[in-house]
Amino acid sequence: MNDTITPQDKEQLKSAVSNEVIIEMETVNKWYGDFHVLKDINLVVHEGERIVICGPSGSGKSTLIRCLNHLEEHQEGNIIVDGITLDKNLKNIDHIRTEVGMVFQNFNLFPHLSILDNLTLGPILTRKMPRLEAEAEAMKYLERVKIPEQADKFPGQLSGGQQQRVAIARSLCMNPKIMLFDEPTSALDPEMIKEVLDVMIELADTGMTMIVVTHEMAFAETVADRVIFMDKGEIVEENEPKKFFNDPQHERTKLFLSQIL
Ligand SMILES: Nc1ncnc2c1ncn2[C@@H]1O[C@H](COP(=O)(O)OP(=O)(O)OP(=O)(O)O)[C@@H](O)[C@H]1O
Ligand SMILES: [Mg+2]
Repeated sequence: MNDTITPQDKEQLKSAVSNEVIIEMETVNKWYGDFHVLKDINLVVHEGERIVICGPSGSGKSTLIRCLNHLEEHQEGNIIVDGITLDKNLKNIDHIRTEVGMVFQNFNLFPHLSILDNLTLGPILTRKMPRLEAEAEAMKYLERVKIPEQADKFPGQLSGGQQQRVAIARSLCMNPKIMLFDEPTSALDPEMIKEVLDVMIELADTGMTMIVVTHEMAFAETVADRVIFMDKGEIVEENEPKKFFNDPQHERTKLFLSQIL
């Protein structure tokens, strides 16, 4: 899929995973009304780890990652992010949201704000950063996602791939410790997928902790330390990518992989 990462790079990436636990989900259960959407989810993520989550539509992938920054609330079990337990304490939630960046399928940029203003809004409002400093930071991240020349345009004037790179840059402006991605390339035309995945690969290279819901299996094979397969609200199977793809253990995983590969 990409030629930017060699096996040696990959070894180096692996060694970037630390022993520090940064996310812990303990027997997490969640319901939407009567519908049991997350069932006894146990998940430990270490700092610097890159995790890919895959599974059929409706299996609970988005719900799981949305629980990690409290866009969704769980009803049972514990979620601890960067040492903070997610509960109804709003102060905790605000803190978590500054630590955990999220990139959505449909970019979620503010259409009435310029690209630069989309990027500086969070740091100015939440981090009380002076505008000039926020703009300098924003330009740094726009350069990192390779579209500094788009700073003064509005989201509607950019391609999908460019908008998604803006969305990634916007998250990075908040200086998060963890980045969550929910199918970041699935709304994109095929020719734009690579430019977004390349930005994500570079981000992985910096040692960022990443949880990525995606069906881009080549990305999973290249970047992930671990692939998690969900079905019907459960984590059915998880393994390092090579074993996951070459030797899936469960019938449900085999069926899923046979459908998408
Ligand atoms: N706010 C909600 N209220 C009620 N049910 C919901 C809500 N959000 C999601 N669901 C249901 O919960 C289940 C899991 O949804 P979720 O979006 O987490 O799945 P997913 O694995 O991300 O699916 P997809 O691959 O289609 O994005 C689905 O059956 C969905 O219809
Ligand atoms: Mg989803």
